[in-house]
Amino acid sequence: MSEEIEVCICLRIPLSDILQAIEKGGIEDVEALIEKTKAGSVCKMCISPEYDPYGERDIHLTDLLK
Ligand code: FES
Repeated sequence: MSEEIEVCICLRIPLSDILQAIEKGGIEDVEALIEKTKAGSVCKMCISPEYDPYGERDIHLTDLLK
């Protein structure tokens, strides 16, 4: 069983899916990443620390785009 880190808990989207989408290119900003992967489209906490004031997510989409 995989121990993979989930970036988006709501939709159970693993880090590898997000990185793969970024590596493929054409992702200019976080909105494009959300559109492509659907991560961040439910509670939004995985998008950025601004949406996650209590630090409930370890990784945010904005960190991965830096
Ligand atoms: S954790 Fe990603 S939308 Fe909720």
